[in-house]
Amino acid sequence: KERWPGIIERYRSFLPIDPSTRAVSLGEGGTPLRFAPRLSERVGAEVYLKLEGMNPTGSFKDRGMTMAVSKAVSEGSTTIICASTGNTSASAAAYAAAAGIDAVVLIPSGHIALGKLAQALVYGAKVIQIDGNFDEGLRLVRDLADAHPLTIVNSINPDRLQGQKTGAFEVIDELGFAPDAQFIPVGNAGNISAYWLGYREYYEAGLAERRPRMFGVQAAGAAPIVRGAVVSDPETIATAIRIGNPASWSLALEARDESGGAITAVTDEEILSAYILLARDEAVFCEPASAASVAGLLKTPVVPGSSVVCVLTGNGLKDPDTAVSQVQVPKVVGTSMKEVAEAIGL
Ligand code: F0G
Repeated sequence: KERWPGIIERYRSFLPIDPSTRAVSLGEGGTPLRFAPRLSERVGAEVYLKLEGMNPTGSFKDRGMTMAVSKAVSEGSTTIICASTGNTSASAAAYAAAAGIDAVVLIPSGHIALGKLAQALVYGAKVIQIDGNFDEGLRLVRDLADAHPLTIVNSINPDRLQGQKTGAFEVIDELGFAPDAQFIPVGNAGNISAYWLGYREYYEAGLAERRPRMFGVQAAGAAPIVRGAVVSDPETIATAIRIGNPASWSLALEARDESGGAITAVTDEEILSAYILLARDEAVFCEPASAASVAGLLKTPVVPGSSVVCVLTGNGLKDPDTAVSQVQVPKVVGTSMKEVAEAIGL
């Protein structure tokens, strides 16, 4: 079997990157699209899960980061910078390490999952914890990059969306057709915009006969697009999408309206029940923000028998605190066989 070359080499002819530019790749992309039998039965459709938590740093961000960092390096940049709810910072830190350049990441203090913080630190990024949220961090990043030689690798960098659109290519390549509908969590709104770009491009190239309806899902406490107004104090257990003023707001509206889809909100309770359901029914451990896509599907009537893709954007291991808060942590028992057998319930 041929080695998976990463998304730039696999899809280079669809990407705006000079043929001579060397790809900074960690082997991102090529993630599984797994059929979900029990979820399919529950909603009466053919449901597939795009397991983006299988990427090198455990989230979809790697698709965009390989593009952004490859181009940054080719342009002579030596420092990248981003604001992040966690995954972008982990990915930026890893690709900067691979490229041998510096990464600076601004994160909202106290509101980033432990695994993501650990990743950014261990990969060697300069981590700045701000006493503010993601939206404030992104504003600071824009100002800093105006005044200093820093390359922004948030999704306001168009190379990020270009890389992330390959997720849509993979869905079509794997299924052999474009699905009827796709559900995807929405935070800064980059990924929904990137997928829509990818679906449109394959359609226009004659590689798909249709384009899916795009369903974006926000957390109810951080749902500016659903409300139609900036949320100044976003709050949700799904810290990855704790964003009140998404940078790609208008692109997300375009994806919604051109595709005949919708952007909806789900409560934290709905997110957590989808999170547990995915683990127990489909053996998929994703992070809470990712489960929002399935929570959205569970609330939205779909055409019976139609094909549906849910993008599960990040790995459950990223957020161990939320994980253990949702289960019963077992009490310690002694080492006699009797005690252990009793604890098992034998
Ligand atoms: N799911 C996960 C796991 C994420 O980390 C993010 C965004 C999203 C969904 C939403 O994607 O922002 O393109 O709409 N995380 C960013 C970060 C904001 O900094 O890691 P989006």
